[in-house]
Amino acid sequence: MVRLDLSGKRALVTGGMNGIGRAIVATLREAGAEVFVADVEGDPPVDVTDETSMQAAFERAAPVDIVVANAGTVRFAPLDRTSPADWERVIAVNLTGTFNTLRLAAAHMKPRRKGAIVLTASTNSFDGEAELTAYNASKAGILGLLHTAAGELGPYGIRVNAVCPGLIRTRLTAGHFAQPQLLKDYFRHIPLGRGGEPEEVASAVVFLASPLASFITGAALLIDGGQMAAKFGTWSDDHARFVDDHWELI
Ligand SMILES: NC(=O)c1ccc[n+]([C@@H]2O[C@H](COP(=O)([O-])OP(=O)(O)OC[C@H]3O[C@@H](n4cnc5c(N)ncnc54)[C@H](O)[C@@H]3O)[C@@H](O)[C@H]2O)c1
Repeated sequence: MVRLDLSGKRALVTGGMNGIGRAIVATLREAGAEVFVADVEGDPPVDVTDETSMQAAFERAAPVDIVVANAGTVRFAPLDRTSPADWERVIAVNLTGTFNTLRLAAAHMKPRRKGAIVLTASTNSFDGEAELTAYNASKAGILGLLHTAAGELGPYGIRVNAVCPGLIRTRLTAGHFAQPQLLKDYFRHIPLGRGGEPEEVASAVVFLASPLASFITGAALLIDGGQMAAKFGTWSDDHARFVDDHWELI
């Protein structure tokens, strides 16, 4: 029987106070891991953009076996109205924050010759969704970090993988989920006909962090209900209806 047992493992999760991160924390704990949260809304607050704050978080979690770089933020604006300040903030949290987390994870794990790191990328790592210039660039950049880190850290027994969620119901996407017509159109392109829940991302993260994924490194796993596989649209009013935030066959 396949068992996911992380008892005795120590994990650090950035952005673990809300949404996807909170579900990752809960699922890691269910699997038996001891989990430390690094979040601006945590106690103590930890800012992934701040080196000193991050160093302290890693000291508290040491010796760390699992690191999840998940903290992220978003700003919506057309390209020509994206302010330099918004660009810098999104890049600072999503890309530099992931770099800071990854760099410290590597420094802590290399001497122990083991570890598993999971990064939260996005379908936006691949897609140019409108009004998300900085966000898309930050998430594409995370794949650059992923590939480089997987290559460098593999010889030290450290695996590095990423999850690429599609539209997941969190406060970050509350605006989307408040608009049924927008959801209806968005989910036309999703073979499973709906958005995702944070727990559905968390289970993939915990799998990638676990020994069940012992030969997986450098992978970017889409968790998007098939969105990226079937971009030309799956659902239409001819054969289906949209009820309670999901498409179903008539
Ligand atoms: N929700 C989605 O549809 C979706 C899709 C793809 C990827 N993602 C990614 O998933 C991750 C989690 O997003 P979410 O939807 O759960 O959002 P969320 O806002 O619910 O959670 C993000 C968490 O990150 C924390 N955070 C923000 N800035 C921080 C900083 N500087 N330092 C430390 N912590 C910080 C927040 O306090 C919050 O707890 C993000 O990287 C996001 O880009 C989300």
